[in-house]
Amino acid sequence: MADTLTLIDNRTGKQYEVPIVYGTYPEYGAAIPAQALRQIKATPNDFGLLCYDPAFLNTASCKSAVTFIDGERGILRYRGYPIEQLAERSTFLEVAYLVLHGELPDAEQLADWTWYITHHTLIHESIKKFMDGFHYDAHPMGILASTVAALSTFYPEARNVYDPAARRKQIYRLIAKMPTLAAFAYRHSIGMRYIYPDNGLSYPGNFLSMMFRMSDESYEPNPVLERALEVLFILHIDHEQNCSTNAMRGVGSSHTDPFAAVAAAIAALWGPLHGGANEQVLRMLGEIGSRKRVPEYVDRVKKGEFRLMGFGHRVYKSYDPRARILKAMADQVLEVTGRSPLLEIAVELERIALEDDYFVSRKLYPNVDFYSGIIYQAMGFPVDMFPVLFAIPRTVGWLAQWQEMLFDSEQKIARPRQIYTGADERTYLSPELRGEAQRLQRA
Ligand code: CMC
Repeated sequence: MADTLTLIDNRTGKQYEVPIVYGTYPEYGAAIPAQALRQIKATPNDFGLLCYDPAFLNTASCKSAVTFIDGERGILRYRGYPIEQLAERSTFLEVAYLVLHGELPDAEQLADWTWYITHHTLIHESIKKFMDGFHYDAHPMGILASTVAALSTFYPEARNVYDPAARRKQIYRLIAKMPTLAAFAYRHSIGMRYIYPDNGLSYPGNFLSMMFRMSDESYEPNPVLERALEVLFILHIDHEQNCSTNAMRGVGSSHTDPFAAVAAAIAALWGPLHGGANEQVLRMLGEIGSRKRVPEYVDRVKKGEFRLMGFGHRVYKSYDPRARILKAMADQVLEVTGRSPLLEIAVELERIALEDDYFVSRKLYPNVDFYSGIIYQAMGFPVDMFPVLFAIPRTVGWLAQWQEMLFDSEQKIARPRQIYTGADERTYLSPELRGEAQRLQRA
């Protein structure tokens, strides 16, 4: 017999049985279908019970086979593979294939996939005219969101979201063109000529070339930095139903084209509570300035003056496994680029915070953004580019979740309910009568 929950409505004394549904693991994600509550009514004509859950704190908005997180134990897996193994042994494009297709590619599939992504990196020359129209100090995330949205005007067939060939093409295009748009946005901001993609380089190597190449001679990325960027990209591919993925699914659920939906997801990612946090971490470490000022800063956080950026997570209530990988990687990168005083401040901040009851009792640990910014900065990326560096790999996760949503027979256009708390019906009065009516109301 299926598991059920018995509910008693104390308003009517009636008893209801609602089913309990499960995912892969019975101990994670056991849920009751919210629709089952609608049968519970105080009077025969009322609407039925809703679930009230601001910010989706305890609501599963979908079933998904892409990513598994156990926030209590600090576990992250893409399609069943532990993030640590993928970060150590795989490449970004291989993991992108896995996340999108559900299985790791064989050698031939990987060669095809790599070929297609590599051969869709160029952007229409007109896009450069948009770029040139942005003010010199435009934030690159704003440029990225706008130019990704603009791509939909070049590829009108992208609207056919249920056409497999059209969908596949837009997936190649989005994954391939994102680094090009991102690097062009950066080059525009520093007034340097755009560097075109180099098909001879790896995905992260080509991005480094488009960002930093200075002369016409061939560019050879430093292998340690190229690998570091590859790992950073792998770690950022997906993170189940976070704010920007929820935006991607929500916007995509109206069957708009994927460029428009990815632009919305980029906008969501930009906020300081999401992908903008690594930018804030660097600013915070700069503001602290030295190791000895860490205790004073932590005290101010505890007084509620501001939050410790790069700390805390809605899902992880232990060390974020991505932060663990990045902490170790920061040392390797800094060996190549030279030491960073910010890393020393960060390590001290983490040490003091993790010994402090404020952080321990709230289960606040470093998240992925705590160390990523230090690595990006050491590699030469300006702070404004940090959220852009998050958006490039997360595009893969957004697309995987978007496809999954399109083919989920239980999904429809996303349309939450609300609990109305406004005025009861009232009658329109002309402006001359309104003042008098308000006076009477107050009296
Ligand atoms: N510094 C100090 N106190 C904090 C912090 C922090 N970073 N994060 C949470 N708290 C406190 C919060 O004040 C609250 O305390 P109290 O119970 O006394 O009111 C308690 O911890 C629970 O916080 P919450 O706001 O209910 O937690 P949430 O799940 O809504 O927020 C979060 C999650 C990530 C938005 C939050 O931890 C935060 O603002 N962190 C800083 C920003 C950050 O690093 N964001 C990156 C997230 S990871 C990458 C990504 O997904 O984009």
